[in-house]
Amino acid sequence: MGSFFDWLPPSASESAQRFDTLFWSMVAITGLVALAIFTVMVVFLVRYRSGSGAERGVPPTRNIALEAAWITIPLLIFLAVCAWAAHSYSRLYRAPADALPVYVVAKQWMWKLQHTNGRREIDEFHVPVGHAVRLVMTSQDVIHSFFVPAFRIKQDVVPGRYTTISFTPTVEGEYHLLCAEYCGTEHAMMKGRIVVMAPAAFSHWLEAGPLEPGLASRGFALFRQYGCSGCHSAQSAVHAPDLDGLIGSEVHLADGRTLRADETYVRDSILAPAKDVVAGYSPIMPSFVGQITEEDIEAIVHYIRSTGRP
Ligand code: CUA
Repeated sequence: MGSFFDWLPPSASESAQRFDTLFWSMVAITGLVALAIFTVMVVFLVRYRSGSGAERGVPPTRNIALEAAWITIPLLIFLAVCAWAAHSYSRLYRAPADALPVYVVAKQWMWKLQHTNGRREIDEFHVPVGHAVRLVMTSQDVIHSFFVPAFRIKQDVVPGRYTTISFTPTVEGEYHLLCAEYCGTEHAMMKGRIVVMAPAAFSHWLEAGPLEPGLASRGFALFRQYGCSGCHSAQSAVHAPDLDGLIGSEVHLADGRTLRADETYVRDSILAPAKDVVAGYSPIMPSFVGQITEEDIEAIVHYIRSTGRP
């Protein structure tokens, strides 16, 4: 499209293409309806102008077929748009199994990111073109919002829980990363850049950072350092659930509920262990509130994820 129509930010992800198609389709549908209404208005203005010879003595009172049509047809169109939008939206939260996990901690006023090989970034985010990325995000103070206009994604980042979103970049380049939730004095400065790279360049970049242990091995070290392994291992004297392959599996709880373990479940179990006690176990685990940072929790979560099937 020419520059006259460049009203939207660059479109650089699969979701951006989907939402732009949806957006322009809705503009077209509503535009056609507006055009039809104005056409009828103009026709009636001319036909029923003062002094015209148009028939106006006996107005029709009932036309069931017409009424049924104007109720049914718009209803079906709007329901179709709703289904289309809902499907598109739900795909933001259903990442493909091979999506690259990246852990994000927001704080006043910066974005901190951890890649699974241990490479960390602040206010910069490198991703490979054409590969799905899944973000697991939390905040260590107030509510922030991860906003990438070029990807058409915006997700609140909330203290006390994990939120996720996924995207697949489609065009190499640099794009804005913004915070879209007013989070204090320097909210407007809480921005960074997303760098979308060719896959080979991305792998090179990923390996070129300062040598750090991978996120899973750092998580395993923390798992021992915080004493988790003292109870959660096969040899331990204290009886605690084995955590290998936990994420993605079904967990039966002492109060009869069943849930599917995800990152939030692991995080909650560290900070509020009495909330979801596993059936057959006593609620003896202490809470780690105030003793562990969000970044360390993310490392442990990733270590537990890594013990399952890839
Ligand atoms: Cu963080 Cu606004």
